[in-house]
Amino acid sequence: MAHTTKEWWANTKSDPEKLASWLQRQYVGELAAVNLLSEVLLRFGGEATTEEWDTVYRVMGQEALHAKWMRDICVDRSIFLENNASAQERYWKEVLPNISSFHEAMDAAFHAEHMRLERIREIAADEDLKISDLAKVFAKILPHEEWHEEVFGAIRHSAAGSTTKYHKKGLEALNLVLSD
Ligand SMILES: [Fe+2]
Ligand SMILES: [Fe+2]
Repeated sequence: MAHTTKEWWANTKSDPEKLASWLQRQYVGELAAVNLLSEVLLRFGGEATTEEWDTVYRVMGQEALHAKWMRDICVDRSIFLENNASAQERYWKEVLPNISSFHEAMDAAFHAEHMRLERIREIAADEDLKISDLAKVFAKILPHEEWHEEVFGAIRHSAAGSTTKYHKKGLEALNLVLSD
């Protein structure tokens, strides 16, 4: 069933098992972002300008740092990091095979960042003491992710809208409705 970000977070944080598995997936997701962006550069890096290539490279570095922060949270909370975790997120799995240019990849990256920002903002603003470790880390992640959305948004311009149908499929895969 579809739900808003607020409902989703209230649900997730009140269920220790759900929260643990979500946090573990965040660690995987941040590392996966490094892989996915690396794949974008491998497939379409030749179409990027030097400045665009450098931007994607800088984003990869920040995603790797986020993965380290998520790992620290998992270790502190005794959350087990499983072997052979999948590096492909549900959203990207729907979208990536349909992409055929650097600008389409940036359009998809913009949508992916945009979706995650809702959740990151929600958690960063949560004053619940039980999750203050998470709020602190997500408050550090937030300005990076806002920058990712901004730069991917700026690069995607010439392909805007072209991946929208895949974005919708990706959203369905996530079972996610965004609240404004
Ligand atoms: Fe990140
Ligand atoms: Fe990001």
